[in-house]
Amino acid sequence: MDRRDFVKTSLFAGGGALLVRHGLATDGSSQQEQVRGLPAASEIEKVSFPGGFLWGMASAAYQVEGAWNADGKGESNWDRFSHTVGKIKGGATADVSCDQYHRYKEDVAILKRLNQKSYRFSTSWSRIQPSGTGSVNQKGLDYYSRLTDALLEAGIRPFCTIYHWDLPQALEDRGGWPNRDVAGYYADFAGILAKNLGDRITTWAPFNMPWTFTYYGYGIGVFPPAKSSFDLFLKAAHTVNLAQGEAFRAIKAASSKATVGSAYGMAPAYPKTDNEADRAATARYHAMNNIYFLQTAMHGEYPKAFVGETPYEAMGYRPGDDKIMKVPLDWLGFHYYTRRIVSHAAGSCQPGNAGHFGTETEGEGGAAGRDPLTQIHVEMPTEGPLTEAGLEIWPRGMYDLVTQISREYNHPIIEISENGCCYLDGPDEAGRVPDTRRIDFHRQHLAELARAIADGARVRAYHAWSLVDNFEWSDGYTQRYGLTYVDFRSLKRS
Ligand code: FCB
Repeated sequence: MDRRDFVKTSLFAGGGALLVRHGLATDGSSQQEQVRGLPAASEIEKVSFPGGFLWGMASAAYQVEGAWNADGKGESNWDRFSHTVGKIKGGATADVSCDQYHRYKEDVAILKRLNQKSYRFSTSWSRIQPSGTGSVNQKGLDYYSRLTDALLEAGIRPFCTIYHWDLPQALEDRGGWPNRDVAGYYADFAGILAKNLGDRITTWAPFNMPWTFTYYGYGIGVFPPAKSSFDLFLKAAHTVNLAQGEAFRAIKAASSKATVGSAYGMAPAYPKTDNEADRAATARYHAMNNIYFLQTAMHGEYPKAFVGETPYEAMGYRPGDDKIMKVPLDWLGFHYYTRRIVSHAAGSCQPGNAGHFGTETEGEGGAAGRDPLTQIHVEMPTEGPLTEAGLEIWPRGMYDLVTQISREYNHPIIEISENGCCYLDGPDEAGRVPDTRRIDFHRQHLAELARAIADGARVRAYHAWSLVDNFEWSDGYTQRYGLTYVDFRSLKRS
């Protein structure tokens, strides 16, 4: 059995990570490399990608634009949150951030110089509809029109994520995502975008990481609006599933050229032990964290994410919702950052706040689980090296995730919508950033992506997170994911 077959047969057969840790690899590659989930340097050297593969970078409106109240923009939930004392590390806000709203030409020029062919950006809903419904703020729309034109002129595909976590505060005040009406308002907004930009933008993703903003915002309260109720999370997630379906139709109705996909957060999950309970918990993790918004779109049904019956009543599910949710996505976009180790847990705990990756860790609850209805206990392993955000580097997870989703969804077209790492290296005296750890990270993950493609996955694009260092949500400016370093005092890009 060669290394490739070993990986394929061991993972998802359960306990893959454990088998590797016990050194069962038989291909002669060093055990150290196997243990750390890294491809061998000699394999990286051989990597190549298909012609026409799209190299890109990603960002999000709230994280890079700044100009939080310019040109008629309304307040968003993240404006409100970051303006609330104690919510963001260092008391940071994104009022200015990288000021991409005013400096987009400079950033597009950087993309061009880096030979990028796709830029995944998001739109700020409250810039275009300041209170979330009703008339359009033309100046807000014009900004995205200018950005789109600048990208096309530079030979770069504009990839628009419609919603990357910033909700008009006026809609939050009306109950936010748990309020089912928001699905319709959101579809109206998506239709406005497609009608006005759909002549030039053909690649649309309705939501960035829908599990994350619904769970962190309404389930455990570490994102706005800081509510902590599993029922509210269930309702918010259901509204988002309806919104995804309604937006799909609104976009297609407004623009015949539109293709609609996704930008889900996903992590390959490995059972902590080989026992049946841990394997079942791992399957529930996959259902809840990876495909809760994908299975609904592709099949019009919720995946089996719960220990008992799916809690339709708590979700606010109505007869006919399956038809609203079901839309055949044209391609699947998902991010990969790091893997998870999952075990069964009877009981629940409230995890502590350690950023939007770290809140999934054990928290204070020891072996307790995350929620009573899912009973999963999630760990962020530390077997591999860690980035400066504390996330384990596990490039093989890229291969595992991409091949798993390919198998489960009948070999769809895939785009990697985000992959990246946090390192804090800054410019040296000559103004150069010796960013070797970040370079290694991307090389290793790309090698594993190439391996998945060689094994049949239809991956057409890769987006590095991120073009520039930016406002990293609750972590403020303490984390740097940019392939371009930003000095947040002068806003100089290096
Ligand atoms: C992803 C988010 C993105 C950024 C990176 C580091 O989960 O989509 O906005 O925070 O993590």
